[in-house]
Amino acid sequence: MTDQEQEIWRRLAEVTDPELHRPLTELGMVESVQVNGQKVTVAVKLTTAGCPLKGRIEGDVTKAMAGVQGIADVAVVTSVMTPEERQKLTQELRPVRHSSVTKEGSRVRVLIVGSGKGGVGKSTVAVNLAVALAQLGRAVGVLDADIYGFSVPRMIGVDRRPVVLSDDMILPVESLGVQVISMGMLVDEGTPVMWRGPMLTKLLEQFMGDVMWGDLDYLVVDSPPGTGDVAITLAQRLHQGQVLLVTTPQVAASKVAVRVGEMAKKVGQRVLGVVENMSYLRCPSCGEPTRLFSGEGGQELAAALGAPLLGKVPVEAAISEGGDLGQPIVFTHPKSESAAVFGLLAKAVDEAPWQVETAVS
Ligand SMILES: Nc1ncnc2c1ncn2[C@@H]1O[C@H](COP(=O)(O)OP(=O)(O)OP(=O)(O)O)[C@@H](O)[C@H]1O
Ligand SMILES: [Mg+2]
Repeated sequence: MTDQEQEIWRRLAEVTDPELHRPLTELGMVESVQVNGQKVTVAVKLTTAGCPLKGRIEGDVTKAMAGVQGIADVAVVTSVMTPEERQKLTQELRPVRHSSVTKEGSRVRVLIVGSGKGGVGKSTVAVNLAVALAQLGRAVGVLDADIYGFSVPRMIGVDRRPVVLSDDMILPVESLGVQVISMGMLVDEGTPVMWRGPMLTKLLEQFMGDVMWGDLDYLVVDSPPGTGDVAITLAQRLHQGQVLLVTTPQVAASKVAVRVGEMAKKVGQRVLGVVENMSYLRCPSCGEPTRLFSGEGGQELAAALGAPLLGKVPVEAAISEGGDLGQPIVFTHPKSESAAVFGLLAKAVDEAPWQVETAVS
């Protein structure tokens, strides 16, 4: 191999697959390198046909070739792995698949965002917290466990299906530095999901066990409201999970949330804290806060569960607009009051001690 070819391969070894997070060379994705005068042609094998990240991989390879001595022109030719090649790859990847989030002793911090009542802002908190943790430099995944009422893909701006390498190897989709998996990525948004409990549980198991999350610091789990099938499965399977409860200031919302907190404690999960959402609305002209809902739901819930109140999020139009557009407020309006609250929440979560309690029943 010439010095120039060595240099090319060395640089290719620095290009990682955006989803598998490993060098293309290690994944067997670089089929060949051909130098012809000042032109280099790199043949890349993609894992699946219609790979959504084809353009990004081509761009990354092209960029990596820039500056190689004597090369003025780069061509990237792509093809798709044969089923045998893909099987070989999945077999090689199988051992690394399980930095599994359900495994005992796993170092990933699982944060289950729950509530008693629906519509209090769980998904909003889950998504903004996840992005805020990613902004702190943490490796973050979001598992949307709200199978019927999924809303995470729209909120975080994911609009494509995940790559499925094999039945038990699903690659999460990245958005805003966060890895995401959701039922919403597997069905169309308008399609109703009408499943009974066992199917729900099976899909959740897949999301926990078969998604290649990689080496995460945090897995933020967005739950459906209440203590139904999904909440129970999460509580049973994610022992190391800690629960973040979201409530509005209303007593009705916080009272129902107490039950969710108690259930979590019963299975040995710790209630990390409480977030009160829609706490107040700040007048855009005079700056005076107005409380839209009566009550001190956040404080009361925190006191009832012996957990800290970690933040009060105001009502802001940019939160709901951002939710609809896939642009979380912490990303689009980092200087806003809500983004500051989410930022402090992320810091509090990140600095919280993370010991796992043993089940009491
Ligand atoms: N602080 C806020 N300011 C403005 N709008 C908000 C705020 N929090 C949530 N919303 C909006 O309220 C609606 C409900 O929020 P969200 O979907 O996060 O609640 P949820 O608890 O996840 O609901 P569900 O129980 O249906 O899953 C969304 O349209 C969201 O954009
Ligand atoms: Mg939700």
